[in-house]
Order: sequence, then structure tokens, then C-alpha cells
Amino acid sequence: MALHGLGSMTLGVPRVDEARRFYREFGLAELTPGDFASRDGGEQLHVVERPIRQLVEVTLAADDADDIARIATAAAAHDLDVEHHATADGANPGISVVEPVVGIRVRVAVRDRITQSPNVAPPMNRPGYTVRDGDRAPAIFAEGPAAPRRLGHVLWGTPDIAASKRFLVDVLGFRLSDESAGIIAFLRCSPDHHNVGLISSPVPFFHHSSWQVDDVDEIGRGAHHLLTGDPMCSVWGLGRHFLGSNLFWYFRDPAGNFAEYFADLDQIGDDDAWIARDWAPDKSLFAWGPPVPRDFVEPPDLAEIKEALSA
Ligand SMILES: [Fe+2]
Repeated sequence: MALHGLGSMTLGVPRVDEARRFYREFGLAELTPGDFASRDGGEQLHVVERPIRQLVEVTLAADDADDIARIATAAAAHDLDVEHHATADGANPGISVVEPVVGIRVRVAVRDRITQSPNVAPPMNRPGYTVRDGDRAPAIFAEGPAAPRRLGHVLWGTPDIAASKRFLVDVLGFRLSDESAGIIAFLRCSPDHHNVGLISSPVPFFHHSSWQVDDVDEIGRGAHHLLTGDPMCSVWGLGRHFLGSNLFWYFRDPAGNFAEYFADLDQIGDDDAWIARDWAPDKSLFAWGPPVPRDFVEPPDLAEIKEALSA
């Protein structure tokens, strides 16, 4: 049938315990040390030790073995090594292919589709339109951290955005949703506007993971909780992206990786009805929000990462 989203990701950091603390406060549930679950997506984040921060692996969720076989064939046709995984009885087949530009291991495995119970928008009064008369807003009574529902996307920096894009499209079967050519590209393997984003960078690096929450109030509540613990951990937000339309707020984990809460992302149910467009650079990042911080586009540890990669 098809790929249907991100299954999970493995994040490498030099100091695992610090990162574990951050992702607990971010609102993910730590099942066993370093293994985190979202509310609807189950186990979706593994934090492991590496000398520099990096996205070690991302798992794409497939419906069945045919999807995996198709990708294995395409990978071989592009002269990429394919590692096959299976249990002794042949169950749970899967493959791994290494992204040829930045070296991220992409695993493809059969996973159940994530089912989400409908999230009904809370009543919100608007000018001339009162739906909550005589009631306080439910949002003021919600407390504690956000509780992300699922992993939505990852974005990485690549020194060859065209080659990284070709890998996603020609080997993995992703579709381009929108881009600012040569700067940033957003691609999908599910109805989400994007499951992988690419940003042009002289140094390959992991930019961010993005986690779906219910609405703007849950973004605000999660931000409030994180900022209470560390007033300096905000990177950029609150805002609304132009490409994908989603509301966003980004935070920095102790290793320097960004983690995003998102809500209200564009959904593409009919692939043929969506036309990918090449947007002018001024649309590449946002529709509204605070000015784009320099650290968001060019994290301050890029020189350190470059040195580590060339060692
Ligand atoms: Fe994002």
C-alpha cells in the first residue's frame, strides 16, 4: 500500500541524562531510560549517546512488506546498500538505507497506522459570534506540560539539498509539498504536509523534531511549562509557518537540537489535487511570528559539528 508517516527517531547526544530530562519536561512519557512515547504514536523517540548531537536514525512506517520491497529495489537501483532486518520467523521485515548526503540511517518497517480520536475544537468566542456564554474558557484550567500526540516530522541541514531531495523522492517515494528552491524543501509520505524537511547548509546537521499537540493553547501551555524550568530554552515562537501553515514554537534541548510543538498543519488527502509550489524566499519560514533568530537558521554549534565530522 504505502508509507504512512514517521514511526520513530533515534537522537544522538553527548550527555544522555540532560536530554532525557528535557524530553520528559517537553511532555513525552519515558517508558524505559531513553525511550519515550507520545500519547497517540507510542514509542517514538530513543535518546542514545554519541560524541556530537545528531539524528542517528529515523524509522518510516509502512503498511506491508510490498512497500519495503519497493524501496529496497529503488535503493539498489541507485547503488545504495540495503540492510535487511527480520526476526527468525520472517516476521517484522524491515530494511535500512543510509541517506547518501548526511548519513542518517533510514529504516523502513511495517507499523500499524496511528489512529487518533477526533479532537473537537474548544468553543472560542469571536467578534459577533459568541459560542461560550457565561462560561470560562476550558484552557485556563489546563495545567502541566503539553502531552504531544505524535511525532510529525524531522528536518535536517544538508550541503546538497537537491541530492537529499532525490533520495527522498526517487528512493523512498516521498512527494514534494512545497519549497523555496535551493533554500528549504518540505516532503511528505503521509497526509501531513511534511514528514521530512530539508534546509540548505554547508554543514550536515540535525535541525529539529516536531511533535503534534492539540491546538494553540497546548502549544502555549507546553511553552509555559518549559520556560518556567529554563527561561532561556525558547528558540523561536509563537508563530505560524507559511509552508505547511502550522502554528509553531521551537525549544532547544541541552545538546542543541530543536524540538517543535506544532498544531493545525496542512493535510493533503488527495495527492493529485495538491500542487507543490516554489515560494519566494520571504515565504520560506513564516507567515507571522517574532523575527527569525539567527540561531534558528544557523545554530551556533555548526563549526563544532563541522570540526567533529572532519576529524
Ligand atoms: Fe517543523
